Formats: sequence, C-alpha cells, structure tokens
Amino acid sequence: MKNIDLEKRFQEKIDQEIRIEPRDWMPEKYRKTLIRQISQHAHSEVVGMLPEGNWITRAPSLRRKVALLAKVQDEAGHGLYLYSACETLGVKREDLVNDLLAGKAKYSSIFNYPTLTWADIGAIGWLVDGAAIMNQVPLCRTSYGPYARAMVRICKEESFHQRQGYEILLTLVRGSAEQKEMAQDALNRWWWPSLMMFGPSDKDSVHTAESMKWKIKRFSNDELRQKFIDMTVPQAEFLGLTVPDPDLKFNEETGHYDFGEIDWAEFWQVVKGYGQCNEERLEARNKAHDNGAWVREAADAYARKQEKRERQMSA
Ligand code: 3HC
Repeated sequence: MKNIDLEKRFQEKIDQEIRIEPRDWMPEKYRKTLIRQISQHAHSEVVGMLPEGNWITRAPSLRRKVALLAKVQDEAGHGLYLYSACETLGVKREDLVNDLLAGKAKYSSIFNYPTLTWADIGAIGWLVDGAAIMNQVPLCRTSYGPYARAMVRICKEESFHQRQGYEILLTLVRGSAEQKEMAQDALNRWWWPSLMMFGPSDKDSVHTAESMKWKIKRFSNDELRQKFIDMTVPQAEFLGLTVPDPDLKFNEETGHYDFGEIDWAEFWQVVKGYGQCNEERLEARNKAHDNGAWVREAADAYARKQEKRERQMSA
C-alpha cells in the first residue's frame, strides 16, 4: 500500500476512535511527537519529585509526612509507567534519561520554582496536581493505547494528590493569621506558573493543531487552562484566599472567568532553562542517577545471571 493510502487509512482509524497500538502502522511524525510528549511527561513526573521531596523531612506531623511520602513515591511510579509507554514507540529508556541528565530534554516548567514554605506543598497538590488532572484526564482518551492506559492509573492517584494539597491549605487558612498569610503567599507564587503548565496560548502552540487532528490532545492548551481557572477560582474563594490576578472576573455572558495576561517572557525563560531552580533540579537528578548506579549494576548482574541459568536449564 502506498504511503498516502496508509496515511489515509491511519487518519480514518483515528476519526473512528480506533486506538493505535505499538504494532500498528503510524506516520513517523505521529510516533515522533508521541515520543516527544510522553518522554517530557515522564521527565516531569520524576523531576516533580524534587520540590516536594525537599519537605518530607520537615513535614509538620507524621500524618503529613506519610501522605507526602506516598505522593512523591506515586510520582516516581508515574514516571516509570510513562517511560514504559514511551519504550513501546521504539526508544530506549536509557537514552531518554540521558537526554534529561544532559539538559537536552524538556520537563514541565512548573518544577523550576522553589518550595519556600510548607504551604507550597499544599499549593502544589491543589494547583499543580489540579492542573495536571485537568490535562491528564482527557489523555486517558488519547489515541495511542499505551499512553491512554498509563493515564488511567495515573489519574486515579492524582485525585489523592490534589485532595491532600487542598486539605493542607484548608488547615492553614483555619489556623493562625501567620498560617493564613503563608497560604496566601503560596497562592501568590504558584498561581501564574500553574497556568503556564498548560503550555503557550493556542496561537503560539506549534504542536496543538496536529495533536488535535491525531487525537493525541482532546482539548487545546487554552481550553484546558480556562477549565482549570473556572474550577479553581471558587476553591480559592472557599479557602478565603485571593487569586493574584486583578483582572480576574466572572463573565456572566460566557460563563467563564476572564483573566489577566500571562507573562510569556517568564514562561519561555523557564522553558529555556533560566528559571529559579533549573540548574538545581538537573544537579539533583544527576546526583541521584550517579548514586543509583550500583543499583542498576546489581540489577543488570542479577538479570545476566538469571539468563545464563535459564540457558543452562534449557540446554
Ligand atoms: N513546560 C515546559 N515546556 C513546555 C510547557 C511547559 N509547561 N508547555 C509547552 N512546552 C513546550 C512544548 O514541549 C513544546 O516544545 P517542544 O516542541 O520542544 O516539545 C513547546 O513548548 C510548544 O508547546 P506546545 O503547546 O506546542 O506543545 P504540546 O502540544 O506538547 O503541549 C503540553 C504542551 C500541554 C505540556 C503537552 O505536551 C502535554 O499535554 N503533555 C502531557 C502532560 C504533561 O507533560 N504535563 C506536565 C506536568 S506532569 C505533572 O504535573 C505531574 C503531576 O503528577 C504533578
């Protein structure tokens, strides 16, 4: 079959909501953009452990420590599911990880901001995982099978992440004046970077049109951002906190919140590696990778020994 017919047949499958599986024919560009998105998603999960990991030893109670430990551990697992989904596209996990360690791979801009107080851990759960849920629930219906199935498991755990974050802030706003101020300060610092998680506006998004055509994305960046704002502003009001956007206003006509201009210069600065914590995050990832070398070597040695034993048994 000629390429043009293969592409036509492929698009018909997408339009008929037939899942694309690893052994199916797919346009090289479809495969490449999936590798790009899924690997960056996986890197985001793994790097995302760092800002929160910073507070495990300083959690204010055993209950908070256990919840945070469980969340950070979940993020590691999310990264592994996503690296596995990416490997079904014919790439090696080791190469993906080496690209991250070399600073050649992207991960979500949000993880390049510092966690200055305990309230940040609440803001991350509520806003960052809340934004991640908004973006990831539609990905449960993405056209590529392994990615969609990884998302189903991940989304179940994200709900707990978001809930525990919101509860941290609810506790703080019901505490002393200083604790409420700490919660407001965290919202002030995490609100705009959380909106940036959804990517550039649709007019500046190089991938959205194609990703929508191939049903990798079910909604555009701006659509998801708007849904997130519409859902989150009432939650901030329930906390008695003020969203740091003087232009934020509910629009009776559209039924959505109008909001102020996002600082896209800041966004691209962070994406390009000049954020507050980019260097620190890469350093921490490289250090963890080096410290874990002995575990990889031991696992490889054990696997080789097992393979040798199985060969001897079957000879
Ligand atoms: N941070 C870093 N880079 C970003 C970005 C962000 N927030 N938003 C966009 N970009 C990059 C894109 O990767 C692309 O660069 P590339 O061509 O080198 O890959 C460029 O900016 C243009 O953006 P587009 O909108 O055209 O790119 P996409 O169509 O890929 O959309 C996306 C960006 C919405 C992030 C999309 O990739 C996506 O939905 N990814 C899957 C979800 C994901 O990765 N979420 C990250 C957070 S994971 C998380 O929060 C874990 C939770 O448990 C805490």
